[in-house]
Amino acid sequence: MSYIKSSLLDEKGYVILDRYDQAADPQEWKNIEYVDWKSSGVTRFAPLASAFGELEVNGFWNHTPPRTDKDGVWIDSQVEKAPHLVARAKAPGANVGRCRVIELQPNEYASALYNLHQDDNNRLNPDGAGWIVRGFFNLSDDPESFMTLRQDRFDPTTEIRIPLPAGAQIIVDTQRFWHAVWHKGPEPRYCLITSWESGPELDAYIERHHGRNDHVNPPLAQEVIDDAQAEVQRRFAERSVVLAEKGRAEKGPVDPEA
Ligand SMILES: [Fe+2]
Repeated sequence: MSYIKSSLLDEKGYVILDRYDQAADPQEWKNIEYVDWKSSGVTRFAPLASAFGELEVNGFWNHTPPRTDKDGVWIDSQVEKAPHLVARAKAPGANVGRCRVIELQPNEYASALYNLHQDDNNRLNPDGAGWIVRGFFNLSDDPESFMTLRQDRFDPTTEIRIPLPAGAQIIVDTQRFWHAVWHKGPEPRYCLITSWESGPELDAYIERHHGRNDHVNPPLAQEVIDDAQAEVQRRFAERSVVLAEKGRAEKGPVDPEA
């Protein structure tokens, strides 16, 4: 047995859907409730669905009983304030796990690279089930910011940079890619993040929205890449020294968000 995966998504690990007309919807993300949750950068989260319908954002496997990132429970008080966002998360008809809006403060390219991580969505997901992937629907208009994906955490030649204007819709295998968002600002970025179970429903949704993975990176000067790589190495070296002084080893980031 093995996991059920979407062929288009599995081919390259991401799919870009048609852009959504974000301006036609009310800005519901401004009215929902956020909780502090340190992730990749300076962030807060507004959960729409959580493990038990509480206003919290912890991984489902950290609850009792622990379970995989499926069967999220909608949070009534948030659903009431964000019906469009909830409808979009439910639109594929696939099983939804965690569903939340992230608020990310502006950062630097080097910080995004330092925060690259892989998600742990499929922890406890049984073999033969649908592979859990994540939808990223950009809500604020951040055309100069990028969803940054790398096959190899430290190899810039494996990097994919997808611009994030309002209405950008991307589905990513976040357990496969090292990922983080380089958000230039100046305002915070808001994005709806939904965990979906792969299967025929998600495949049909991707097809309806003309999913494609023929993306070409926007250009980025080699000097900018080199400087950021060097800065990341410097930060890791610094961190290793601090951890060694405390007698601890580097464990790396554990399932933060993008
Ligand atoms: Fe993530």
